[in-house]
Amino acid sequence: MTTAAPPSQDILKPHLAIAGGHKLQGELRVSGAKNSALVLMTASLLTSERLTLHNVPPLTDIDGMESILVSLGVKVRRRSETIELQASSLTSAEPPYKLVNGLRASFFAIGSILARMGYAKVPLPGGCRIGARPVVEHIRGLKALGALVTVEHGVVTAAVPGESKRLKGASIVLDCPSVGATETILMAATLAEGISVIENAAQEPEVQDLANLLNAMGARITGAGGPTITIEGVETLHGCEYSVIPDRIEAGTFLLAAAITRSRLRVAPVVPDHLSAVLQKLRDCGCVLEIDEEGITITPGEIKGVDITTQPFPGFPTDLQAPFMALLATANGTSVITEKIYENRMQHVAELQRMGASIRIQGNTAVVEGVSNLSAAPVNGTDLRAAAAMVLAGLVARGSSQVRGLNHLDRGYAGIEAKLRACGAVLERLLS
Ligand code: EPU
Repeated sequence: MTTAAPPSQDILKPHLAIAGGHKLQGELRVSGAKNSALVLMTASLLTSERLTLHNVPPLTDIDGMESILVSLGVKVRRRSETIELQASSLTSAEPPYKLVNGLRASFFAIGSILARMGYAKVPLPGGCRIGARPVVEHIRGLKALGALVTVEHGVVTAAVPGESKRLKGASIVLDCPSVGATETILMAATLAEGISVIENAAQEPEVQDLANLLNAMGARITGAGGPTITIEGVETLHGCEYSVIPDRIEAGTFLLAAAITRSRLRVAPVVPDHLSAVLQKLRDCGCVLEIDEEGITITPGEIKGVDITTQPFPGFPTDLQAPFMALLATANGTSVITEKIYENRMQHVAELQRMGASIRIQGNTAVVEGVSNLSAAPVNGTDLRAAAAMVLAGLVARGSSQVRGLNHLDRGYAGIEAKLRACGAVLERLLS
């Protein structure tokens, strides 16, 4: 006698039921940038005055960061997409493991906690599905600024020696242009004594957004957005009001939603310079883009295959590799997609194959032969951007798809089904 296998836990989780094949029309609104907002929130730790952030997206990751800041003694008020943060006095320099685990950006708070308190104890963020994601560069940077840093039992402890408890400006050359390391060091160096220079800094728009916020709080930072950032340390920072930049990855995902459904659509607000490499690839594969003051209108033509290699900014972003692959799975011709940032960010390939995509993997390169139709299937988004890719594929696949992995999707796409539904997509969230 055979015993039936217990149902997979994933099957019992909520999913999006998407009826493929509907055209989109109108405008998709882009929320504030998740990866900016998360780090900007930790900048509140650098001042006792109130920091008010606008355009903060309603995401589960933002809820997680709020809980971490509350655990450190920050008073938080949130209404709609505005969040007020006041760290009058911090009651702890040790965010708990259960909150930090799974929210990588929370590790970046080590720089601001250390600068403010002279001491910080933060659990390592650990690896994740897309790669090992070390924090060696963050730690090297804090050591260069004079902190004593130890890593024991999975926890990083950093302390500033001496009476003044103030970090000292230093020159730091990053081995790789890590976004998080640049942000961690930037926050730590704003309150250091003297001048710091970060070379081979990450140039991502989120780094620039952080520098703009810190300058609005009284910091003296120049060069952010380029490879060399100079920080003249100040003694204190003050509060301010600031609006988070639009999310370039959400905007790119929406442009791809238009392209994959061959629909004319406007996406706004967008800062086109934040998406240059992606816009070029969309044009190369046959889309016409009209750029106006606030947004972009995309008119897809016949989609042709293109080759893509992910790179640090201003190159093609790794966070749009999976969503763009979904489009290219439906293109006319062959595309070669190479992932250079993460060692394990090809897990969406197997799921796209379930929907009839023709993709061969060679290491971190995917060779995609476009097919004329994808077919609906139950699929699983194994990380945030893989889940977005599955939603895109579901919008065009013949039949009704069930996309799981919504715990990932909800980390980065605010109200995605309502936004897509308002433009004509047919999808709903079901509980099992
Ligand atoms: N790296 C090292 N050593 C380090 C730090 C990084 O080798 O000390 C390597 C990583 O292993 C990776 C590469 O450098 O291969 C890039 O990592 P980076 O540190 O730049 O990434 P991050 O700061 O941890 C942010 C975003 C990611 C996005 C990357 C790259 C946040 C919270 N996360 O991560 O966003 O993929 O930059 O642009 O800002 C996402 O939103 O889906 C996401 C994963």
